[in-house]
Amino acid sequence: MHNERLAETMEFPPETPQPNVYPLSWRRQTDKLEEVWDAAQRENWDPKHLCWDTFDVESYSWEEREAIAYWWTLLSVFDASAPPVFASAFIKTYEAHEEDAVRRCFFSVTRDEQNHEQMCGLAITRLLEHPDPLSYEPKTELGKKLQKNAKWLYYNGGRYWSGYKSAVPKYSLAVLFSSFLMGEIAAATIFHQMAEGCREEVFKEAFRNIGRDEGRHMAICMALMERDYPKMDLADKPLITKQVRAGYLFLSAVLFEPPPDFWDLPNDFIANQRAGEEVARAAGFHIPDYEAKKENWKKAMLNLKGVLDRYDIPFPAIPEVGISGQEVTDIDMASIIPVF
Ligand SMILES: [Fe+2]
Ligand SMILES: [Fe+2]
Repeated sequence: MHNERLAETMEFPPETPQPNVYPLSWRRQTDKLEEVWDAAQRENWDPKHLCWDTFDVESYSWEEREAIAYWWTLLSVFDASAPPVFASAFIKTYEAHEEDAVRRCFFSVTRDEQNHEQMCGLAITRLLEHPDPLSYEPKTELGKKLQKNAKWLYYNGGRYWSGYKSAVPKYSLAVLFSSFLMGEIAAATIFHQMAEGCREEVFKEAFRNIGRDEGRHMAICMALMERDYPKMDLADKPLITKQVRAGYLFLSAVLFEPPPDFWDLPNDFIANQRAGEEVARAAGFHIPDYEAKKENWKKAMLNLKGVLDRYDIPFPAIPEVGISGQEVTDIDMASIIPVF
């Protein structure tokens, strides 16, 4: 009974049932995470304070503006879901009474992803003079095709949130980290490349910052895997293999091209996207081309494979980029964790 007054019947209260969401404990265990947190504090940035005054949007044609805005829209299909996704993982670190620095690190990832999402919004709003790429009225033929693509991407991404919500309580943090790592490795690579190749200063600055954030996120996952994987529950291994394959399918949409058996998209989707990328690239917005994307993605996968091999976790076959491994089938949007 909740109005029973225990304090009148005993000197000390009964044990609080565990897990209780708030650990009154600031246990320090993994020094690496303390370093990453310090770096996150030092490197915090504000998308509003980039060199926006050097950005002359009118020096671009409407076709170029719509093509570049499309890329930011594609990115935001992933980055706009990242704040709530990491916020859920952040809560889980409290429920699991994780060490203090783990809680802070997940807090920093949530904040960083919020910055990335803001950046997408600022770029899109300036380029389109409209804050919402789905209700915007396209001005060119290419813009119309790209908006159709954006609508399909948004629809597909929307199928993933309910799956994620039911996955978070089910899986251990160890499984979650491997899924996160996948996105972080891939993201760190693509943003560094875009920062290097991009002609527009404000985007260059943004990509540099985002790439650095993603590098820290990667370091957090790696430190946690090093801490936990040597004593991992064997039952988690096949789950990780499956999540890596799912991560490949999901993230391919932004890092490579969306696999049609997983992404529900119209037939002209890839052609439209390629046409948009071509225009953006010619305007100095550096999106890696098909071969470069494939190479990147393969490198990121092999990186991850190197990590998982150390712990005898079978790697899934990724024939799309020429990696052999364990065959994984029956993956759908409802059962995936990967984030960006
Ligand atoms: Fe991000
Ligand atoms: Fe990230």
